[in-house]
Amino acid sequence: METRQQKVELARRALAHLDIRGTDQAASTMELPVTLYNDVNRFNREKQAIFMELPLALGLSIELPQPGSYKAMTVMEKPILLSRDENGKAHAFINACRHRGAPVCQEGKGQGKRFVCPYHAWQYGLDGQLKGIYGSNTFGDVSPATHSLTELPCAEQSGLIWVCLTPGKTFNIDDWLADFRPELDSLELNNWHIHEQRWLDGPGWKVAWDGYLEAYHHNTLHANTVGRYTIGNLMLHDTYGPHQRLVFARRTLAEMKEQTEQDWDPDQHLRQIHSVFPNLSISGVLGDHCLVSHVFPGPTPDSTRTLQTVLVAKEPVTEEEKTASDAFSATVLQAVQEEDYPMGYKIQKGLAAGGNKVFTIGRNEPAIQHYHKWVKHFTEAKEAVCS
Ligand code: FES
Ligand SMILES: [Fe+2]
Repeated sequence: METRQQKVELARRALAHLDIRGTDQAASTMELPVTLYNDVNRFNREKQAIFMELPLALGLSIELPQPGSYKAMTVMEKPILLSRDENGKAHAFINACRHRGAPVCQEGKGQGKRFVCPYHAWQYGLDGQLKGIYGSNTFGDVSPATHSLTELPCAEQSGLIWVCLTPGKTFNIDDWLADFRPELDSLELNNWHIHEQRWLDGPGWKVAWDGYLEAYHHNTLHANTVGRYTIGNLMLHDTYGPHQRLVFARRTLAEMKEQTEQDWDPDQHLRQIHSVFPNLSISGVLGDHCLVSHVFPGPTPDSTRTLQTVLVAKEPVTEEEKTASDAFSATVLQAVQEEDYPMGYKIQKGLAAGGNKVFTIGRNEPAIQHYHKWVKHFTEAKEAVCS
């Protein structure tokens, strides 16, 4: 974990804002033309440059807990298969048989030794190698060299499985994370447990994602859910290349003023959100619970699919612990599904009706500003991250 000294420093910064009702700020407001939110051509360019060509954290390492673990899912209309081979190495494949393209694994998680295609029973190993062909003496010559599963570049780091969705590319995860890596490591994601996981439909990528990057809306839109615990409009903002760390303060923050620094327990009063470019938010909302959100653009600019994963620090055993974890899960589901995303759909109606030519991003919304600068960077002046 981060050292106590680092957390104390965050608490000091938050308390300094509390006294003056302040927050970390960008240098100026930013105007974003709404075409960046709803133009189909722009959307397709951005989706290609960012979501197809950069490394994405597609899964948590704990989702593939041991050799033989696998997970099949659809990511942005692509059938993807993640697996952990006998040696413990994580792989990512296009979930499509090399005979005539059927998915070799049905969606979901499991444990096994082989993937057997349900169409004509070709078999593949956990490393994607073609292992067997039904009726091979009648089929003709094919070999593992040419007919193994199509592998995607994949790396495992900081408790996450990183994948580039374009076959044949490569990436260096150390370069991609750079100084954000110790931040992610401090979360010790491999020590958490998955309590619940679900997919949610939501409004467009940027309309949805902007909401993960500020606390300005918490005391209004989330007055009855997560906003009950948060001081709205107080945020600490630190950047690490395209990645970001946001820190929100809990309403109990003022209690720290009554204590000496030696007695401080910053975890009780601060909430850290690690925002991994372009679409992963890891939000330690209440210390022993964590919300992990993967937001994937849909086929058009006005829809997303969000994979929401609720983690618990310790698997709930007692009824009381289970009730607490269920309550946390229900609260974050309500906040996103009944508050954030319905607001997003309404915003999109206004967009379609021509209500705004630009959106103005405030000085108090520095993380949104940072995000959009990097979207522009990768789309317009593409830096070689994957080659
Ligand atoms: S499509 Fe898989 S064995 Fe034919
Ligand atoms: Fe929200």
